[in-house]
Amino acid sequence: MDQIISIFQSISWWIWVLIFLLIVAIRDIFFQRSHTISHNFPLVGHLRYWLESIGPEMRQYFVANNREELPFNRIERGWIYASAKKENNYEGFGTDRDIYAHQHVFIKNQMMAYKVPENHVNAIDKTFIPCAKVMGVHNKRKKPFRPSSIINVSAMSFGSLSAAAVESMNKGVAKADAYHNTGEGGLSPYHKQGGDVIFHIGTGYFGVRTPDGNFSMEKMKKLVTDNPTIKAIEIKLSQGAKPGKGGVLPGAKITAEIAEIRGVEIGKDVLSPATHKAFSNVKELLELIENIAEETGLPVGIKGAIGKLDQWEELADLMIKTGKGPDFITVDGGEGGTGAAPPSFADHVSLPWVYGFSSLYRVFLERQLTDRIVFIGSGKLGFPAKAAMAFAMGVDCINVAREAMMSIGCIQAQVCHTNRCPAGVATQSKWLQKGIDVPLKSDRLAQYFMTFRKEFLEITHASGYEHPCQYTMDDVQLNVDDNSLNRSLASSYGYNKAKVPFVNMQKLHDCIHLGGKHCENS
Ligand SMILES: Cc1cc2nc3c(=O)[nH]c(=O)nc-3n(C[C@H](O)[C@H](O)[C@H](O)COP(=O)(O)O)c2cc1C
Repeated sequence: MDQIISIFQSISWWIWVLIFLLIVAIRDIFFQRSHTISHNFPLVGHLRYWLESIGPEMRQYFVANNREELPFNRIERGWIYASAKKENNYEGFGTDRDIYAHQHVFIKNQMMAYKVPENHVNAIDKTFIPCAKVMGVHNKRKKPFRPSSIINVSAMSFGSLSAAAVESMNKGVAKADAYHNTGEGGLSPYHKQGGDVIFHIGTGYFGVRTPDGNFSMEKMKKLVTDNPTIKAIEIKLSQGAKPGKGGVLPGAKITAEIAEIRGVEIGKDVLSPATHKAFSNVKELLELIENIAEETGLPVGIKGAIGKLDQWEELADLMIKTGKGPDFITVDGGEGGTGAAPPSFADHVSLPWVYGFSSLYRVFLERQLTDRIVFIGSGKLGFPAKAAMAFAMGVDCINVAREAMMSIGCIQAQVCHTNRCPAGVATQSKWLQKGIDVPLKSDRLAQYFMTFRKEFLEITHASGYEHPCQYTMDDVQLNVDDNSLNRSLASSYGYNKAKVPFVNMQKLHDCIHLGGKHCENS
């Protein structure tokens, strides 16, 4: 034995390296059949796979210019990070955008900006922008809700996000007086940290389902009674990244905690069907909305990505006929994010936000129904100038998903679907999410929302308005093409938004339905 050990010890290190390389080469040529390149080019073929695997990071860190990356470029990410940390989020020396580029947005400033009077609510709180409309007032719901912030956290489930991320977001919205949409994975303990909640129902009815996967009104009622932070309910018809696509949550991911929250069995695959079991046509959808609102007293809305309009038109016609309808509609853009989706869906199915929203809004505008609905927009709208455009087009609130993730540390690694999110945000790995300092990250989310609102309010004042609901389609222009260099939103999208009834900020502040901390004071 000693002899063998001394023979091994006498072999120098570079001979060991050669032996190792020889073994890899033999494996490449004779024993592996799955990679043609490493079979045909033993050893060097591995370099290709390795370089390809680190390519995205190399491009992100060294190659891509500031405005090049998607979904969010470096300038956009940097603005969110700096805003969340309350750091300097300005840029020096003027814009680096090509402001003559196609689709570039311009917000028209007023000759003299809106002057905030001395005792105005915004003289005291420069970040206060509540929703100008109240959800559920028209339909006389028992508990109407005025979101206290025009920027809020969009639907993202516990399951696609880590417990630490969900907890940071809920604590963050509580600090910023915004609301938190649960996503379709049910209401987890991490959503119960004090922030206003919109409970989101997908086709799996997680948290409110019968054992055979149907919607349970009894469970819905109990959930609402037990959790007074739930202020509204959203039924998901589709989302921009994968409209009409179901999914399977593999049994391996269903821990005891997830099983309990979602109301499913531990370790057993769970199907989120592509379509709902609780309704199969527009009339039945309307009935379900009314039943849930009646039983819970809460405003009930729907979320959809927009493609064909005929069923939306049917819904609008039924709203006229019955006098009933959803209290809010969330319109998600085709550019929206997700935990996981096939590229063919994410890239091609459903319209981008501007086209989808403008078509949908017109359906309700033509029937004079817009004052009955709170319109919410989502799809990369978490930047003040983009939000101004969305308000000019008719939204009353915006929801942000990936921007909220970035504010708590997401680095756009784009690996949400692998459970290996390096920032601990979109993973169930206990080790990776340990890196999230919940109190700090909740401050960051709150700070991002407050910086956003402050900057958005400044833009609004620069346009001569007190509240962003006053924006009209003529206040924002787009570069369209070479012949007609610059056109207003009204002429580009062919409508003028309906006037939102607005008296002043004080009236919104004093509203008894206002959410967030304001609600406790009233
Ligand atoms: C990780 C993740 C999970 C999501 N989960 C849901 C969901 O459960 N239900 C849903 O309707 N949308 C879901 N979405 C879509 C978002 O709510 C949002 O509509 C979309 O990402 C557009 O907003 P954004 O551009 O601000 O990210 C998810 C998005 C992400 C990034």
